[in-house]
Amino acid sequence: MNSPALRAQHLGKVYPTSKGGKPALNDLTLEVPPGRVYGLIGRNGAGKTTFVRIASTQLALTSGSLEVLGLDVRTQMHDIRARIACVPQEARPLYFLNTEEVIYLYLKMRGIDPLEARRRTKAAMDELSLTEYRKRLVARLSGGLRRRTLCAMVLASDAEVLFLDEPTTGLDPIARREVWQAVRRTIREQRTILLTTHYLDEAEALSTRLALIEQGELRLEGTPEDLRARVRYPYRVMVQDPFPREELLSYGRVADVEGGHLVFAREADAREVARRALEKGVRVSLGPVSLEDIFLEVVGRSIEEDTKPDEVAA
Ligand SMILES: Nc1ncnc2c1ncn2[C@@H]1O[C@H](COP(=O)(O)OP(=O)(O)OP(=O)(O)O)[C@@H](O)[C@H]1O
Ligand SMILES: [Mg+2]
Repeated sequence: MNSPALRAQHLGKVYPTSKGGKPALNDLTLEVPPGRVYGLIGRNGAGKTTFVRIASTQLALTSGSLEVLGLDVRTQMHDIRARIACVPQEARPLYFLNTEEVIYLYLKMRGIDPLEARRRTKAAMDELSLTEYRKRLVARLSGGLRRRTLCAMVLASDAEVLFLDEPTTGLDPIARREVWQAVRRTIREQRTILLTTHYLDEAEALSTRLALIEQGELRLEGTPEDLRARVRYPYRVMVQDPFPREELLSYGRVADVEGGHLVFAREADAREVARRALEKGVRVSLGPVSLEDIFLEVVGRSIEEDTKPDEVAA
């Protein structure tokens, strides 16, 4: 079997601070299989960027180990760097070059020969609809176009492992989907992508496996189906008004939404709710929970557990 693209074992990170250190990752063990998109999701501050920065050899780990393509981030960082590429969360491309130059030079600096670098630059600009801006200075691009330029650089590279830290934040819906297409094309080339995103539809559409981290700890890991199988209520039923709320409470968790109620339930209960709604002539739809539902259940529960009653009242 292929060895993993990334292997973290008991990975820990504590940022040094004046108050004795800020823990950001705690005992994180996970493997990213090669040739796929692996989604890393979690709330603001969960530790996603910290993980990306350690794996892309920009930040030292505190404990445990992390291997990229079988190489140790502590001792083999130069070998790793030649084989990875990264769109960091906060990065912007060099502003004094034009869009075409910045992509082309990046590829040249990675050692790609000039003809091939030209070909890849053109293809990447076409793929992300940047061709009309090719002579425009990066300094004059909008924020979303700068982000697209960075994605184009990295997706056009020959790196075996790509780190995309919120690559589509700030992109319009069409540009987002162009990045998705480029991601899928990259995967067909047998390369590996670690993707962090707050767009859970994006994480679900692209990722073969996902890790949900919360306060630096791994909460859920697996394929989208694995994640669904691990939550208490894997089905959602939308019941339109009028349907008495009290009659729903025994089936699962009920959320009141515009025009009706959303019931999270086990499969048999979900079917029963749907049957009763149809009996009453009420409109109903039933389906598996979305990744967003799973996220809200797992993270929401952990927030509730962490929140003391007096904090709730405050
Ligand atoms: N240089 C630093 N020094 C101290 N603490 C830091 C530093 N960088 C990050 N942190 C803290 O580490 C934790 C994890 O941050 P990180 O940036 O990895 O989160 P994230 O999951 O990427 O969040 P977001 O979704 O907002 O990008 C946070 O609590 C953050 O405040
Ligand atoms: Mg981040």
